[in-house]
Amino acid sequence: MTNGSTGADKARPVLVTGGAGFIGANFVLDWCATEISPVVTLDELTYAGNLDNLTGLNSHPRHSFVRGDIGDADLVASLLARHKPRAIINFAAESHVDRSIHGPENFITTNILGTFRLLECARAYWLDLPAEERGSFRFLHVSTDEVYGTLTPTCAPFNETNRYMPNSPYSASKAASDHLVRAWHHTYGLPTLITNCSNNYGPYQFPEKLIPLVIDRAFNGQPLPIYGDGQQVRDWLYVGDHCSAIRRVLAVSAPGETYNIGGNNEKTNIEVVKTICTRLDGLKPRTDGRSYSEQITFVKDRPGHDRRYAINADKIRRELDWSPSETFESGIAKTVDWYLNNSDWIANVTSGAYRRWIEKQYA
Ligand code: NAD
Ligand code: TYD
Repeated sequence: MTNGSTGADKARPVLVTGGAGFIGANFVLDWCATEISPVVTLDELTYAGNLDNLTGLNSHPRHSFVRGDIGDADLVASLLARHKPRAIINFAAESHVDRSIHGPENFITTNILGTFRLLECARAYWLDLPAEERGSFRFLHVSTDEVYGTLTPTCAPFNETNRYMPNSPYSASKAASDHLVRAWHHTYGLPTLITNCSNNYGPYQFPEKLIPLVIDRAFNGQPLPIYGDGQQVRDWLYVGDHCSAIRRVLAVSAPGETYNIGGNNEKTNIEVVKTICTRLDGLKPRTDGRSYSEQITFVKDRPGHDRRYAINADKIRRELDWSPSETFESGIAKTVDWYLNNSDWIANVTSGAYRRWIEKQYA
């Protein structure tokens, strides 16, 4: 299967939104290392976006960066007219569940209204393309397994036909954006793709999310906060594997398709945190000789906390021959090592605003 793109097409750029965030930056870095198409990165640089994530591409001949909002229709339209991309890959979003509980409005603005404006700009641009370019254009929307809601311990993992039952303001806003993308395909014929992925981890993840938060706090001798009983389950995927899946979907999928992406790595939160502590005990033992796991502290649960997420990734494996390269053990080892070796990166992103968030959330 191919999407009909030609060699000449491959010389045309792709537009990556949210490319200075965690997954977007990994995607742009991997793309520049493996693909020939140039990349234009559009990112508003919110608290979660960081140009340090892209320093590896400074003066890269095939990468350019534009600071801006996906909801700024004039800016997006002018970028599309200038760069004539063959695809848009939309990572831009507000992405943290806890922040969505404290303040949902940004999630509505970026994830729903922003996606709507981006779709409208993409539609106008796509309609104006010459016929052969129109056929190979793609709008790939990066979404989450959280749109499906929560699973009981014995439920089958989510597949692409599960009903959407989002439970948090974050997942509700992502679900709404997925519905818009689907509708723009069915109503207007825009060649869209949607990917719904499980929890990612790896380099450049902002330390508000569980794995980098725990690594950072362990180093600093701080409590490692576990919400509720720590028995919630997530299906962890190494970020590089998510990026390879997106490249595969973009390269070969038919318009209108949706794919679930997951690592087949269901772990309870307490297991994840203990695995990190064990790795740190081996690499950078505490000066008092005790284990980092002694810093684990059970704290008040997240309101509406989803109990279990798990992905059935059979469709992408069967149809697109994609499977992850990393096991949880190999991925978490790489990740802990990366944070150990990149303490400057953590120091730079944990600014004053970050400290205010931590005080509010873990007071
Ligand atoms: P992130 O919060 O690390 O990065 C989001 C990026 O989007 C940041 O660089 C931010 O500056 C940018 N951004 C925010 N609002 C913007 C706007 N209005 N215009 C332009 N840029 C804007 O998020 P992430 O973890 O990298 O997630 C990326 C995407 O993948 C999101 O759509 C998220 O829903 C989805 N996703 C994340 C995970 C995960 O585990 N992190 C799993 C599945 C899907
Ligand atoms: P998170 O990384 O925020 O991702 P998501 O909520 O999108 O799954 O959280 C992963 C799991 O870890 C989730 O069940 C909430 C839990 N968690 C904690 O127990 N303590 C924390 O301090 C954080 C940030 C998360």
